[in-house]
Amino acid sequence: MDFSLSDEHRMVQQMVRDYCEKEVVPIIKEADRTQTMHPSILPRLGALGILGICLPERYGGQGFDYLSLGLVCEELEACDTSLRVVMSVHMGLNSLAILQWGNEDQKQRFLTPQAKGEKYAMFGLTEPGVGSDVANMASTARRDGDDYLVNGEKMWISLATKAHHILWVARTNPERPNPHDQLSAFLIETDSPGVTRGDIHGKLGVRAGSTGWVNCADVRVPAANRLGEEGEGFKIAMSCLDNGRYTVGSGAVGLIRASLEASVRYANSRKAFGREIGKHQLVQQKIARMVRDYEMGRLLYLRAGWLKNQGKRNTKETSLCKWFATDASFEAANEAIQIHGAYGYSDEYDVERYLRNSRGAIIYEGTSEIHQLMQAGYALGYREDGDLRCELPAYDEAVWRG
Ligand code: CAA
Repeated sequence: MDFSLSDEHRMVQQMVRDYCEKEVVPIIKEADRTQTMHPSILPRLGALGILGICLPERYGGQGFDYLSLGLVCEELEACDTSLRVVMSVHMGLNSLAILQWGNEDQKQRFLTPQAKGEKYAMFGLTEPGVGSDVANMASTARRDGDDYLVNGEKMWISLATKAHHILWVARTNPERPNPHDQLSAFLIETDSPGVTRGDIHGKLGVRAGSTGWVNCADVRVPAANRLGEEGEGFKIAMSCLDNGRYTVGSGAVGLIRASLEASVRYANSRKAFGREIGKHQLVQQKIARMVRDYEMGRLLYLRAGWLKNQGKRNTKETSLCKWFATDASFEAANEAIQIHGAYGYSDEYDVERYLRNSRGAIIYEGTSEIHQLMQAGYALGYREDGDLRCELPAYDEAVWRG
């Protein structure tokens, strides 16, 4: 494994960092307070090419590798989690699934406009009654001639009121004995008759983001919009999560970094008992733990990104990265508040927002409990990754830039 960053990687990092510092830092506190996604965010991410960062140029993307996606997510979440969440749904859970599972027609109709930032995409798996237990979902899709009639409710959906289409998973084949074989995936345009959607307010964190619900009532979806074959919906959803979790894990590493940098700044300036608080050993211990977790989280996402570049199965490694980095980001933000003392408890400093933002990622895209079950399952020999069709295509610069 070679984890050295290329000049291109550094250029991508710097581009995202500059964007965040110049355009997002000045507006983020107010967006968080008012619980609104600033209208500039999606168009600017599109115009900068970030929404198509690791997609082939022939589909409107920028032609960079999958590692670049992790680097982008680290930079975005070092600024605010709501930015990284856009990449998680638009790219991780949607665009990469179309790249992996879509036919040429679907790549032209859906992937290309969303890679160019002309359209936005989201992911519909979670329902009011189902989160971890995917195979038990209530949403249905019944074949009717050349169409499917889709019914159901999806909940906690990022970009619910912003995106132009949703990757929707529903039960198509209840007669099959294995529930894993009963689901199928669809690309549903949000202007289709029967689609309704709304925002959810009052969340603990990611308040500058867009989260909501999407309902389908007898929505007619052409069979040409089915992603993969009938019955492949569970596997498609799981492969989406392999990519979404990568963006969540790498983003959480950015949140650890932000907590560390804020803590170092504060510890070097605030004095107590006659010296900077950074000179006190218990503050140093907290800083040391943030350094440790940042470096470990970073190695875990670089490994997952490297595996993706090779086209190798990475479900286990990505799950470990997501579990470790999200738990650690919550710890880091919590300790950052402790270092800031009472100031950390107010939104005069960013660390209270980091804590609120870090909490959701321990729940979404696989709770920490699900990831522990997965890791124990691999270790005990109860779980193994088969089906090699479930990989992203290996990154090939000549193809991506061709
Ligand atoms: N890629 C491809 N195929 C996969 C796969 C993957 N990553 N993981 C599993 N599969 C395949 C398996 O190979 C197996 O195939 P066969 O039947 O052919 O052998 C099949 O899928 C069933 O797999 P499992 O036996 O592992 O399934 P399980 O029922 O034991 O489920 C689980 C495992 C880990 C609990 C899984 O259901 C899971 O990850 N649950 C959490 C779901 C989740 O993350 N929800 C969050 C939703 S999205 C979100 O958070 C965003 C939002 O909306 C807020």
